[in-house]
Amino acid sequence: MSSLPGPGPGRPFAGAGAIVTGASRGIGAAIARALAREGVHLLLVARNADRLSTVQSEIASAGGTAAALAQDLTAPEAAERVVQVARERLEAPYLLVNNAGIATAQRFDRRPPGEWEQELVTNLVAPLRLTYAFLPTLLRAGRGHVIFTGSATADRPLPRLAVYSATKAALRGFGRALDLELVRRGVRVSVVEPVYVRTELGRRPTDVEAPLERRAREHPRSALEPEVVACAVVRLLYHPRPVVHVPWTWAASRGALNALDPILQRRWRLPPPTAGPSA
Ligand SMILES: NC(=O)c1ccc[n+]([C@@H]2O[C@H](COP(=O)([O-])OP(=O)(O)OC[C@H]3O[C@@H](n4cnc5c(N)ncnc54)[C@H](OP(=O)(O)O)[C@@H]3O)[C@@H](O)[C@H]2O)c1
Repeated sequence: MSSLPGPGPGRPFAGAGAIVTGASRGIGAAIARALAREGVHLLLVARNADRLSTVQSEIASAGGTAAALAQDLTAPEAAERVVQVARERLEAPYLLVNNAGIATAQRFDRRPPGEWEQELVTNLVAPLRLTYAFLPTLLRAGRGHVIFTGSATADRPLPRLAVYSATKAALRGFGRALDLELVRRGVRVSVVEPVYVRTELGRRPTDVEAPLERRAREHPRSALEPEVVACAVVRLLYHPRPVVHVPWTWAASRGALNALDPILQRRWRLPPPTAGPSA
């Protein structure tokens, strides 16, 4: 393994190696492109090989370096496989961005038995497994950063997104505690928590409209572009922090929202279901 990334003119992370999960589209693809502009060498991971290859080609034609691995991260052997490929393809592993995630908007009692467990595994178990598998590499190097894509639902859980909100709140707890465990060993851990971002998340045709989707339809300008989240991730490399809210103004407004919870919660309460499976 060659030397770790050192200071360079203007791009201190040039040559550092990063795994980015969920890099085939949306926020993950934007993070990958932004890291590539910093000179970071990438391993892009997601299931859809064609879409991964499109992102990989975009990065290569802009002068960046990226390898791609089509892998379902919920598979039991996934973490070991990703880390094995990272060891082969990244000269100086430094960063893991656990970004892959899914969201199904549905009343909890209406979800098919066990179906919601897939969301727990994708959003929570899989990133923990990958972190566990990759950490020895970072700890041996005495330097590194693990970033999770959390969500503002960690603070403001939403009806029909109970399981999703639970996974994101758990990621925040895990990330903060792990940062305390590792910071004195040279490895930082951060959770990036965006509000609604314009991507394909939760847009599967079978989904009922999630509250955030409705908000975006009613107030189209309230949705962030994935690039805004990618900027926050790059800033974290330079200024590591345990939790970052995107946009930063959310940090202030969430305090006020939490204080107004008794009133706001009445507004979010769902009516009793009417006939039909998607009520
Ligand atoms: N959009 C929002 O409003 C929003 C807000 C806050 C947080 N987030 C979080 O941001 C992250 C990225 O979401 P997004 O909005 O960019 O959604 P997206 O466009 O649906 O992208 C999700 C990514 O995760 C990958 N993925 C899903 N399941 C996977 C699996 N089992 N194995 C490997 N890869 C998998 C998908 O690739 P394949 O389908 O090719 O596998 C895709 O690249 C998620 O963690 C999400 O919770 C999103």
